[in-house]
Amino acid sequence: MPVSESSVELVNYPPAQITTEDGVINILQLTDPHLYLDPDTETAGINNYQSFTACLQQALNENIRCDLILLSGDLVNEVKPEIYKNIYQLLQQTRIPFVCIAGNHDVTDELDPHLPFSQRRFVPHEPNPMLLSNHCLALNEWRLLLIDSSVPGKIYGSVGNKNLNWLSQKLANSHHPVIIAMHHHVLPMGSAWIDQHITEDAEDFWQRVESYPTVKAVVSGHVHQNFESQRAGIKVYATPSTCYQFKPKSDDFAIDDQAVPGYRWLSLNKQGIIKSWITRLENKKA
Ligand SMILES: [Fe+2]
Ligand SMILES: [Fe+2]
Repeated sequence: MPVSESSVELVNYPPAQITTEDGVINILQLTDPHLYLDPDTETAGINNYQSFTACLQQALNENIRCDLILLSGDLVNEVKPEIYKNIYQLLQQTRIPFVCIAGNHDVTDELDPHLPFSQRRFVPHEPNPMLLSNHCLALNEWRLLLIDSSVPGKIYGSVGNKNLNWLSQKLANSHHPVIIAMHHHVLPMGSAWIDQHITEDAEDFWQRVESYPTVKAVVSGHVHQNFESQRAGIKVYATPSTCYQFKPKSDDFAIDDQAVPGYRWLSLNKQGIIKSWITRLENKKA
């Protein structure tokens, strides 16, 4: 990725409201690009930067209007401000409103990746100021609630009391249909190693939100694979990474060489109904 020396002047960031004439809002979720300063860096045979931009371009070339881009964490794989500047610049060039939230890799540098996992060092960082938390975005009648589930120095996630209380306050005073976005998953994937790194207080999260019929969906990243389920009538989505994928249902860490990078569409209509699907890159080596 080319390094920009100049700071990015963000216009209308973060967006607070998006309205459309047809009453439909289409959200493009891109997640876990894990970008490096060096644009030639590859992970598991995939160039992280090229795969991210290929996903973005393919999605925006689809025959669907994109009203919002949601980048749901692990934007970087090394915590360096220059990478964020370039990501924001790239997104701003689309002229489509966008929002970004933190993942574990946005607040943790993982050192010594050549060593066994248990011997690596995890260095905590504060999240980049452009990563949003406790942000409510009005999308026609819908409300998108953005939560920072990252914990500096840790891989697992946590919603925490501050976010839980903010959620309660938003949900108690609203009749709007709601979608919640956070990086870490809130339902087990049936994959022992990744479920060690789940949102640790996921049960507290569920107890807080599941009694509200206005909550329609929770969307996450982090697990680098497609996942669609539900709990208490609330749809739960996780989404392939824009680069490498983890093998579903594997109890040990495993890359899924057969799975192609991808992204998710979430289409919110004026009846409060959500439709969602994933799309894979047509050319994995794009
Ligand atoms: Fe990730
Ligand atoms: Fe993650």
